[in-house]
Amino acid sequence: IEEGGEKLRSIICCIMGHVDSGKTKLLDCIRGTNVQEGEAGGITQQIGATYFPAKNIRERTRELKADAKLKVPGLLVIDTPGHESFTNLRSRGSSLCDLAILVVDITHGLQPQTIESLNLLRMRNTEFIIALNKVDRLYGWKTCKNAPIVKAMKQQNKDVINEFNLRLKKIINEFQEQGLNTELYYKNKDMGETFSIVPTSAISGEGVPDLLLWLVQWAQKTMVEKLTYVDEVQCTVLEVKVIEGHGTTIDVVLVNGELHEGDQIVVCGLQGPIVTTIRALLTPHPMKELRVKGTYLHHKEIKAAQGIKITAQGLEHAIAGTSLHVVGPDDDIEAMKESAMED
Ligand code: GTP
Ligand code: MG
Ligand code: NA
Repeated sequence: IEEGGEKLRSIICCIMGHVDSGKTKLLDCIRGTNVQEGEAGGITQQIGATYFPAKNIRERTRELKADAKLKVPGLLVIDTPGHESFTNLRSRGSSLCDLAILVVDITHGLQPQTIESLNLLRMRNTEFIIALNKVDRLYGWKTCKNAPIVKAMKQQNKDVINEFNLRLKKIINEFQEQGLNTELYYKNKDMGETFSIVPTSAISGEGVPDLLLWLVQWAQKTMVEKLTYVDEVQCTVLEVKVIEGHGTTIDVVLVNGELHEGDQIVVCGLQGPIVTTIRALLTPHPMKELRVKGTYLHHKEIKAAQGIKITAQGLEHAIAGTSLHVVGPDDDIEAMKESAMED
């Protein structure tokens, strides 16, 4: 398969964890953006989506000198809120993804929504990696900007290493109490049974290359079948939003298949099924957040996996979390309306 080939679709990865563990900041670090500082109260209140093309992942992981041959076109990361009141959004995010990043703040260890997220992932048998974030907060940490974690650890003095080991041990114990074996990813000989931990800093980027490489390698190694592109459209509505100049739009995650401008679609609505036509298919630029207002790219057609903003008439009462269906030439609209309302 060629790099960026057509055979596999992009990997969908969800990022979850307790409020303020650093989920959005980690994505900012990879994107080179500042979404987190623009959030009201620094709290994420919506599901987001960002597309990372293979090219960028390759650049970001180059220093690891691994065979990062990418067979997927890219990585679509779904950001979720960690605040306790958004359990439904965490559930929606986790139901969409192929695999996940569970973010734990090294200064706090496991917290209530860490455990809630963990249980959502286990319920669906979703593989995940643990990002042990905020390592730069260890007293005396020497910054090694964007360095692979083993390289960064070698630069640290004994006291930092001791504090790191103490906190790591405590957190491994806390996971053990939840019935989960965990280990630093570069010491993990038992992948599959034992979950891997990558120490990270969202501020200075240590460990971020390792995180990206693990996601891509793990997915390509264990999920080829699941990631094989199929034509049948599988698409979920993330958010329903009014956007100036576009009216009511829906943000969707296209998991499989292809959408086209002009496609007739059926979506579940509060007052019954909505049948409408896609007016525009919009995405943010690669490495930009879908939920943040910005300039959009217009597409005639678009292939999975992607986070997309759809404009169409009559979307005012669309219900987030439900499926979007495309009407094919042989489809019976009445039957589709019925099945759309079963969501
Ligand atoms: P919610 O989406 O609201 O659940 O929070 P979040 O998990 O997305 O965390 P967010 O990115 O909003 O970060 C919370 C705070 O922690 C911000 O002030 C960040 O600057 C800070 N922070 C995040 N990651 C790091 C890190 O690696 N090191 C340090 N020192 N601070 C961090
Ligand atoms: Mg956030
Ligand atoms: Na936050």
